[in-house]
Amino acid sequence: MSLQGKRIILGVSGSIAAYKSAHLTRLLVKEGAEVQIIMSTSALDFITPLTLSTLSKRPVYHQFQKDETGEWNNHVELGLWADLFLVAPMSANTLGKFANGICDNLLTATYLSARCPVMLAPAMDLDMYQHPSVRKNLETVQSFGNHLLDAESGELASGLSGKGRMMEPEHIVEQVKRFFTSKLDFQGKKVLITLGPTQEAIDPVRYISNHSSGKMGMALAEQLKEQGAEVYVVAGPIHISVDKSKFHWLDVMSAQEMFDASAEIHPKMDVVIFAAAVADYGPAEVAPEKIKKSEDTMQIRLKKNIDIALTLGNQKHPNQLHVGFALETENESAHAKAKLAKKNFDMIVLNSMKEKGAGFRGDTNKVHIFTKNGKQVESSLMQKSEIASMILDEIKKMSSWTEA
Ligand code: PMT
Repeated sequence: MSLQGKRIILGVSGSIAAYKSAHLTRLLVKEGAEVQIIMSTSALDFITPLTLSTLSKRPVYHQFQKDETGEWNNHVELGLWADLFLVAPMSANTLGKFANGICDNLLTATYLSARCPVMLAPAMDLDMYQHPSVRKNLETVQSFGNHLLDAESGELASGLSGKGRMMEPEHIVEQVKRFFTSKLDFQGKKVLITLGPTQEAIDPVRYISNHSSGKMGMALAEQLKEQGAEVYVVAGPIHISVDKSKFHWLDVMSAQEMFDASAEIHPKMDVVIFAAAVADYGPAEVAPEKIKKSEDTMQIRLKKNIDIALTLGNQKHPNQLHVGFALETENESAHAKAKLAKKNFDMIVLNSMKEKGAGFRGDTNKVHIFTKNGKQVESSLMQKSEIASMILDEIKKMSSWTEA
């Protein structure tokens, strides 16, 4: 699909990543989009309007007044003209203004006037991106329904390395194209996702758990929501920023709590995705008081936890679709296929701990999908959001309600 005829406002704010907006403009124009650029005042310190207007083939706006004639750039008209309002890069400053309704330049004024969908691609230094005020503002703008094109990890202009780089222009264009093609294929469908780790208490201060961040499950939850599903999330203890208000959200700690919460809603679900990393064993007894240090070694007796996917798999209704995950370190495909059959999954998504950039915690993953009909699909290393849409495409192909 091209972006032929799509009207896109590209907002450019003050960040070193503004140099990438030139490439982004080229890519969008090449796809056939009409790109109207609006720059914030501080963006002018990073890239010139001349560069961007040459590439977009349109005048670039950065102030309310067009020129000395006094004619104004009508931000209300601009806001109504666009099919999409995309800001890339979005600085911490512009984010703060969007989150709080501050309107002191043409870009912020147009944001407040826009009736079309909004996509925001932040770019900041590592510590800025993690600052609680920025996290809060990101949550706020997402609660307005704005789509976040999450920053990527890598080398930053400061010399530090970590999360904060603006999403690469090629990835942004992919997301924009997906946005315009995405159909409400899950409209009217109820989907349950288990995600994150579980915590099994040893005593009041200690527990057994694992490294799951909940990112893979959240990427699925977000995409399902965008495609019209009613999404139920049963989440173990996670520490990533999420807008829970978009979902039916249940926080749990242990495997047993995750099972109890899931079992109650399972009968009315159309699709269940088991993305949680559930502890297979937990302490047989939870000490009522903090265990005191005494011997050089100590033993904790463990008992098997309930297998949520297996138990609910045995109760699966013929119209329900169950998707499992498998996290393996050896004999990956064989173990994943065995779990597919044993747990009565329709599909299993294998992520290997041996693949760099795959599995726990990171923003990327690399998976193999196996279906009960013998189909196999392999992904490259991609953002978890891209892996999520690939999984949803496979679910649609297996479902009876849509032809993908
Ligand atoms: O959260 P992230 O940091 O983004 O990482 C994503 C992930 C690696 C956690 C995720 O993609 C993943 O692989 N989740 C499943 C991990 C796991 O527990 O795999 P497993 O092979 O042990 O379990 C197989 C399946 O049974 C899984 O769908 C699991 O949710 C389910 N299960 C397992 C044990 C249990 N007691 N109950 C279950 O429901």
